Amino acid sequence: MVLSSRTFCAHVIIINFLLLLSCNMVYGTPTDIFCLESIKKSLEDPYGYLNSSWDFNNNTEGFICRFTGVECWHPDENKVLNLKLSNMGLKGQFPRAIQNCSSLTGLDLSINKLSGTIPTDINHILEYVTTLDLSSNDFSGTIPVGLANCSYLNSLKLDQNQLTGQIPGQFSTLSRLKVFTVTNNLLTGQIPNLRNISADSYANNPGLCGSPLPACQAPPSKSNSAVIAEAAVSEFIVCHVN
Ligand SMILES: *[C@@H]1O[C@H](CO)[C@@H](O)[C@H](O)[C@H]1NC(C)=O
Ligand SMILES: *[C@@H]1O[C@H](CO)[C@@H](O)[C@H](O)[C@H]1NC(C)=O
Ligand SMILES: *[C@@H]1O[C@H](CO)[C@@H](O)[C@H](O)[C@H]1NC(C)=O
Ligand SMILES: *[C@@H]1O[C@H](CO)[C@@H](O)[C@H](O)[C@H]1NC(C)=O
Ligand SMILES: *[C@@H]1O[C@H](CO)[C@@H](O)[C@H](O)[C@H]1NC(C)=O
Repeated sequence: MVLSSRTFCAHVIIINFLLLLSCNMVYGTPTDIFCLESIKKSLEDPYGYLNSSWDFNNNTEGFICRFTGVECWHPDENKVLNLKLSNMGLKGQFPRAIQNCSSLTGLDLSINKLSGTIPTDINHILEYVTTLDLSSNDFSGTIPVGLANCSYLNSLKLDQNQLTGQIPGQFSTLSRLKVFTVTNNLLTGQIPNLRNISADSYANNPGLCGSPLPACQAPPSKSNSAVIAEAAVSEFIVCHVN
C-alpha cells in the first residue's frame, strides 16, 4: 500500500507532536527526579536506606513523594519540599546535586558521616532554605559566609562537626533566625550579635567569646623580654643570611 502524500504529511505531524510530547515528559518536569537520582548517586549508602526505597523505575506522577525522607509540596507532584535523611549512615561530601531540587525549603542531613567542607556557594545551592540541619557529621573547614545570604533561614544546626574559624559576623543579618547551634566544634573568635541565641548553642568550642559567653580578652600586650627575644631572633636571621 502506498501512502498518499496527504496522509504521509499527517503522519509526520502526528509523529512530531508525539515526539514533542515525549520530549516534554522527559525534559519538562524531571529536575527534582534528576536531583534525587544525582543525590543518591553521590552518596555512599552502606545500610541501603536509599537503595531500598529510592526506586526511579516507577514513573507515576508524585512517585518520588513516597521515597524515604522525601516530603513534597503536594503528594501527586514531583516537587520536593523537605529532604530528611537523618541517621542513615550516609557517607561522602555535601550533596551539591541538591541545587536542582529548586523548591526545597528544608534539609536535614544530621547524624551521618558526611565529610569535607560545607560548600562556599551554599546560598546558591539552597536559596530558599528555612531549616538546615548538618549536625553530627564530620564536616570540617570554616562556616561559609554565604549562609548569611540564605535570608529565609530560621533554623541552622551545625553542632557536632569539626568546624574551625569564626562564626561569620554577617550572620547578624539573618533576621528570621530562631534556632542556631554550633556546640562541639573547633570554633574561635567573637560571636556575632544574634538576638536571643543562648550560651548553650555555643558550648564546647575552644575559642568562642563574647556575649552570651564571657567577653573576648584583648590580645596580651608583649612583655619587654618577648620584644627583646624577637629582636634577637630577627637579628640572628639577618646575620645568618649575610
Ligand atoms: C540495592 O538493592 C538491591 C535489591 O533491593 C540489591 O540487590 C542490591 O544489592 C542493593 N545494592 C546495594 C549497593 O546495597
Ligand atoms: C508505582 O507507584 C505507585 C505509587 O506509589 C503505586 O501505586 C504503583 O503500584 C507503582 N507501580 C509499579 C509498577 O510499581
Ligand atoms: C543540575 O541539573 C543539570 C541538568 O538539568 C546538570 O547539568 C547540573 O550538573 C545539575 N547540577 C548539579 C549541581 O548537579
Ligand atoms: C551575599 O549578598 C550580598 C548582597 O547581595 C553580596 O554582595 C555578596 O557577594 C553575597 N555573598 C555571597 C557569598 O554570595
Ligand atoms: C527570646 O526568647 C524568649 C524565650 O525563649 C522568648 O520568650 C522571646 O519571645 C524571644 N524574643 C524574640 C525577639 O524572639
